[in-house]
Amino acid sequence: LLGNSGDEQGVAVHAVGGFVRDLLLDLPNLDLDITIEGDGIFFAETFGEQHGCRVRPHQAFGTAVVVFPDGRKLDVASTRLEYYDSPGVLPTVERASLRHDLYRRDFTINTLALCLNHDRFGVLLDFFGGQKDLQDKTVRVLHNLSFVEDPTRAFRAIRFEQRLSFQLDPHTEGLLRSAVRAGLVERVGGKRLMGELIQILKEQEPTLAVKRMAQLGLLPCIHTGLRFGPDSEQLFAELERVLAWYQLLYLETPLEPWTVWFLALMDRLDSPQYLEVCQRLMMPERLMERIFGHRHKALKRLQHLRQALGRGQEISNSQLYTLLHGMPLELLLYGLARSGQDELRRLVSHYLTRLAEVKSLVSGTELQDLGVPRGPAIRTMKERLLSARLDGLIASKDEELELARQ
Ligand code: CTP
Repeated sequence: LLGNSGDEQGVAVHAVGGFVRDLLLDLPNLDLDITIEGDGIFFAETFGEQHGCRVRPHQAFGTAVVVFPDGRKLDVASTRLEYYDSPGVLPTVERASLRHDLYRRDFTINTLALCLNHDRFGVLLDFFGGQKDLQDKTVRVLHNLSFVEDPTRAFRAIRFEQRLSFQLDPHTEGLLRSAVRAGLVERVGGKRLMGELIQILKEQEPTLAVKRMAQLGLLPCIHTGLRFGPDSEQLFAELERVLAWYQLLYLETPLEPWTVWFLALMDRLDSPQYLEVCQRLMMPERLMERIFGHRHKALKRLQHLRQALGRGQEISNSQLYTLLHGMPLELLLYGLARSGQDELRRLVSHYLTRLAEVKSLVSGTELQDLGVPRGPAIRTMKERLLSARLDGLIASKDEELELARQ
């Protein structure tokens, strides 16, 4: 379809970047990026009209996002850029070639282009040796200033290296280290840095990438107190086990595993340092509150449980519920990884699968009808009924009402 539209408009259409890279590596990738040798926005708008897609243009960048009716997205870029030097003056139009356009990219493996026009369909353009680097499993920059132009590429380099089991080419690694030494990575803005870190922590196996970040001196660019020592290695290994175990519980509670990895990465930091990291990364207030606000309390409660287990103490369902209820799941999992105790994991599993969703069945109005006064008394009564239900003393609503009457 895209090739046909290109033919109709008389412009060359190429799939570029990650899509082509992954196609050649036989990896799934649904993010299609295309480049139009011409006006990409005009192409996107015409294509969108013909195929019932929504189009979001970004005039300043000459790009557009095409959203298909089923929600899939297509990124369209132009090799023709228009610069408005000052308002009211005609734009300077620079017609860049595809080669020139691809030269601005990060690594050779991301510079391959696949023609989609009918007469050259499937022809692969490889200006910078990307195919050979894919074969040799190498991540290589296109020129010496790549990390200077965009220091976030240091994180991207590690991400591709670890995800694809590639190696940084030695010269590229040298350039990356120089960029770190020159303080360029340290100066990356908080939001961008956070974005890169999240992407790394969202990888299938973030441990290796984090280790590599430490090796290449990237962790201190986030905070000088961050390290990845043997204790971190142990914590990360344990967390991998905890997350695998959690998946097997098949719970519906939404979980963003990257937040748990994030907590593990910040494990060594004290509270003021935590705050510094959050500020450095310009972390949204809500996220900060969710994963850090309750950290101290959560770890203390888990510690309490652990000690009780150590003493051989019986823990009732209602006690367990009271301790763990309302605790963000990320913190629970992080706390479990920290404790490394199987018995505690069994208990938390029992809470998550059997207790977390239990509720008292009688309503406040029903309790008022029974004569319980409005206000805190209702809450206290509901808590009492819930505890009784959790501990198996009552099961039905009638039994709850009966207990409330007493
Ligand atoms: N790119 C770049 N420098 C950056 C970010 C992106 O040169 N700092 C280029 C890369 O060549 C990349 C393309 O822009 O191929 C698209 O970026 P993105 O969608 O982030 O990369 P993908 O290669 O698709 O990576 P992923 O598989 O992780 O989505």
